[in-house]
Amino acid sequence: MISDSLKSVIRDIKDFPKPGIIFKDVTPIFKDPDLCSKVVDAFADRLKHLQIDAVAGIESRGFLFGLMLANRLGVPFIPVRKPGKLPFSIVKKSYELEYGSATIEIHTDAFEPGCRVLIHDDLLATGGTAAATAELVTELKGVVAGFAFVINLEFLNGRDRLGSFSSDIITLTD
Ligand code: PRP
Ligand code: MG
Repeated sequence: MISDSLKSVIRDIKDFPKPGIIFKDVTPIFKDPDLCSKVVDAFADRLKHLQIDAVAGIESRGFLFGLMLANRLGVPFIPVRKPGKLPFSIVKKSYELEYGSATIEIHTDAFEPGCRVLIHDDLLATGGTAAATAELVTELKGVVAGFAFVINLEFLNGRDRLGSFSSDIITLTD
């Protein structure tokens, strides 16, 4: 089972990046090429009922499997970036974090209107980042085809925040 393989290598790091936080370290996954292939296989299998025209990966950890998955599906990859990184014209969205706020940006020509965009990130926590991405996709007249995450921190109820954009929310560890 892919969930067992992933759980066996994803590390809990206590008090990172600050006291009280238990950080999910995904870097061991990337040391194992066979596991990386299985992750992409699992995503592709669980997404096969969806029409996906592009994959949007969220900086930075969402870039890693995002491009691999887009490549596997044979569709364009769209980088969703932190502020000030994208060189062309952009739309941006700010959203609240537990403490403070964050902003993400996407190129205005990232995809054509009507494009069915899969949103990918490594981890679903509160869902704030993925929801902001979904709002940007919608603002550019795209359709949120679904969401794909490696890890879901279930106790933060991120799925509830994303349900209004798409009912297809795929996670590999639960
Ligand atoms: C983490 C994670 C997701 C996001 C999830 O990224 O990789 O992108 O937080 O949180 P949310 O569901 O509460 O929005 P982080 O901001 O730590 O940056 P990184 O990917 O660049 O390491
Ligand atoms: Mg991230």
